Amino acid sequence: MSRRALIVGTGAALPPRRVTNTELAERVDTTHEWIVERTGIEARHVAGDGETTATLATEAAKKALAAAGIEAKEIGLIVLATSTPDQTFPASATRVQTALGIDDCIAFDVQAVCTGFLYALSIADNMIKGGMADHALVIGSETFSRILDWEDRATCVLFGDGAGAVVLKATETGDKGILATRLHADGRHGDLLYVDGGVSTTGTVGKLRMKGKEVFRHAVTNLAAVLDETLEAAGHVSSEIDWVVPHQANKRILDATAKKLGLDPAKVIVTVDQHANTSAASVPLALDVAVRDGRIKPGDLIVLEAMGGGFTWGAAVVRY
Ligand code: UT7
Repeated sequence: MSRRALIVGTGAALPPRRVTNTELAERVDTTHEWIVERTGIEARHVAGDGETTATLATEAAKKALAAAGIEAKEIGLIVLATSTPDQTFPASATRVQTALGIDDCIAFDVQAVCTGFLYALSIADNMIKGGMADHALVIGSETFSRILDWEDRATCVLFGDGAGAVVLKATETGDKGILATRLHADGRHGDLLYVDGGVSTTGTVGKLRMKGKEVFRHAVTNLAAVLDETLEAAGHVSSEIDWVVPHQANKRILDATAKKLGLDPAKVIVTVDQHANTSAASVPLALDVAVRDGRIKPGDLIVLEAMGGGFTWGAAVVRY
């Protein structure tokens, strides 16, 4: 049996401040009804003073370590997916490392926007397979509230802050673990979802800009294709899936993707109603919710998928 990575613990963190659609409707020209009908979102969490991508990531990581029963000092690798790091450098992963009291391990950030967690998971999986670490923390953490244009109703209602984490452990026995991952990018669509600032261009942080309708159109096609591709690589078919843990951008995208794959919508984990789109955090946040409420059980076949700015997209098939 070849070396694989098992998911042995999950954790999540949300800022306490919860912002409802009704509250947003006091700031921009929108309604609770429009947001729910077009997106499925009812509320989102927004980071307050002192709450950052690294602090949320640390909280999620501590919960994942506790769930796994693994000491922080056993972690040999931290991969943190984010597009909203605390600072341009050092990597937020190293802030998390220090907050966890780990003196020496591999630690770096990955930036693939909403697909960031899938990229981070695939990198960590392959580093574990290659013998670089026996235990890894893979985290998605974001504070998109800091890059939203709070006057643009077409984007500010869609996103939220939060973090999710998993602990991976190397194994050479059994049939569980990450069975296959597949990643894609197509930079020709970079102008459909981007931030209008940056270190080497404007020297400012910038604000998120999105042509939502066009992103939506690509999302369903790309997600269905990468799910098929990853299932085939893992030697499984869609009828065998117990749970889909998708990126939580829009309830209509989740429904359309499930339909395209012929999947029962009841097998799709949905958190977009309460978390909105938390970019790289959304998949591990949703995974943690479904593990903790008992829906996802050991031995289940789960698929994780995401699509985001770049465009980037990817999927993973996991025997949990
Ligand atoms: O995480 C990365 C991936 N991101 C995504 O997957 C996002 C994908 N896109 C979407 O989720 C949807 O396209 C949106 C939710 C962003 C927009 O839904 P839509 O059905 O595509 O609406 P639209 O952009 O075509 O806008 C329809 C109308 C427009 O008015 P007119 O031009 O028809 O008069 C908008 O100005 O809705 C208007 N509108 C709003 N109205 C009330 C846009 N935002 C709002 C709003 N409240 N917040």
